[in-house]
Parts: sequence; structure tokens; C-alpha cells
Amino acid sequence: MIGSCSIDLTVQSDRRPLAGETVIGRSLTLSPGGKGANQAVAAARLGAQVNMVGCVGDDDYGRQIISNLKDNGVDTSYVQTISEQSSGTAHITLAEGDNSIIVIKGANDSVSKSVVDEAGPALESADIVLLQLEIPLPAVVYTIELCRRLNVPVLLNPAPVSPIREEVLHHVTYLTPNQHEAALLFTSGVDQALKKYPNQLLVTKGSQGVRFFDGKEIRNIAAFQTAAVDTTGAGDTFNGAFAVAVSEGKPIHDSILFANAAAALSVRKLGAQSGMPDREQVESLLKEHQNTDIG
Ligand code: RIB
Repeated sequence: MIGSCSIDLTVQSDRRPLAGETVIGRSLTLSPGGKGANQAVAAARLGAQVNMVGCVGDDDYGRQIISNLKDNGVDTSYVQTISEQSSGTAHITLAEGDNSIIVIKGANDSVSKSVVDEAGPALESADIVLLQLEIPLPAVVYTIELCRRLNVPVLLNPAPVSPIREEVLHHVTYLTPNQHEAALLFTSGVDQALKKYPNQLLVTKGSQGVRFFDGKEIRNIAAFQTAAVDTTGAGDTFNGAFAVAVSEGKPIHDSILFANAAAALSVRKLGAQSGMPDREQVESLLKEHQNTDIG
């Protein structure tokens, strides 16, 4: 995992303030987050051996981030502590059934080519490398090219979205934008893009499932319906779980199903990581689903 590690500061409120307005909120929660760390924890809880590559500040948040990764079984040997930088934070408002997030990158902005190079031994032996866009784009592009040379599969979750050259996208094994990110990345049409990237481009649509092109037709793998307490980190859970499943050799359809089950379970608790399931929980939901299907 090469990506961001942050602390999430989540405010729950009955509604969002309008521009220039002040509203009284209900609660403030501090919890571990950052798309990179979230995906690392999601994969580790499902039994993967995960190395986190990233940067934190030399502060209390940085120490909390590292200790949380360790508690979840993630190897933090390649997480660097940057002096004179604050750890990354995400400022989340949970209101009206959805979240809105402002990210302050802090030390995540220090993830550079040399930070990636330090992790060379882990990269060379990886079954898959995961990336998102909360770290500088040059480090992301560099990693994609490096993995290509090393013949290591790469999953890029282009969130938050920023323009990426098409030739770079072609070198990614799996690209997992949500529907909004896909619309911004592929301005000439998402369905057209799906056909251009068979079994490679997976467009996640929250409770509406995941779309991909299997080489013959565009397929939609339905999401598992569940009552959501907090959808923050559901996409990260999907990415971590998909990477685990596909690296274990599961076909793409089954990997999406596995990841959809993990993502559905993850939204039942407050906080990006608190609801992330272990393997037993995912397998039991899949079994339930199979039985319902047969019944
Ligand atoms: O994807 C959810 C994550 O995005 C949050 O945990 C927050 O840290 C933001 O980066």
C-alpha cells in the first residue's frame, strides 16, 4: 500500500451549514483514516500481509496512526516520520445521510519517489500494489511505471480524482473510480471507457453496485443492501477487499462480490475503519446471500 495515512475528525450534525451559516453539531469523533491506511487495514483484516508505505508528521496524530496500523497487523517499516510536518487530517461532516470531506494532506504530501524507492524490497515481492491520489501524483505515476517494470499488478483508486494521462491509466491493472470520478476521468463517456478497459476498469456506484466490462458485455454486480450508519471508508473497504480476493486468484466477478460484501459490512459502524470486517464476517454474508439466491 502506497498512500495516505490521516486522522479523521468527524462532526455529526442534523444538517450541513449553508455558506456563511453556523449550525450546532451533535458530536465530534477522532478516528484513524486516510484512503491508503483505510485500504491497508481493510486488506489486513481479511488476512493479507500488508506493508504500508507513507508519511506521518512528528506529532501525536502520527504516533496514533502508526500504532493503529500495527494493531491491525499492518507492517509500518516503510512509514516515515517527517519532522516539521503535521500529520494529514480529514475534516468530515456527516449530515443528511451522507458525508462531505476536506482533506489537509500534511505529511502525506511528502510521499516522494525516494520514499517509494526505500520500499523497493516490499514492492518487488508484492502480489499487488495499491495506490490512491491523496499523495503527490509524481509518486503515483512513478510507482505505476516501477511496478510495470517489476511485473507487479497495480490497483489505482483515483480518489480524490485528478487528471491522469491515458497512457498511465493503461499501465494500471485495475482502476476503481466511483461514478463521479469516472465521469470526470472519462469525459467522452463512462460506458465507452468501460469497453476500452475490459476487466480493468471497475466503476463503483455505492448502493447500486459495481460496473465493469467482461469483454462481451457491461455487467453490474449488485451491492448488498444494508442500513448504513456511516459510509466513510466503504470505497476503501471495497478496494482493500477486492485486492485481497483478486490476488488470491478469485475471478474478477467473484472478487467484486467479495469486496461488495466487505463494503456493505463496513458501513454499519461510525468511522472509516471501525466497521471493516474480518474474513469470517464476509464469508458468512456471502453464504447468506447464496442461500437467499438459491431459496
Ligand atoms: O475514503 C475515506 C477517507 O477519505 C477518510 O477516512 C478520510 O481520511 C479521507 O481521506
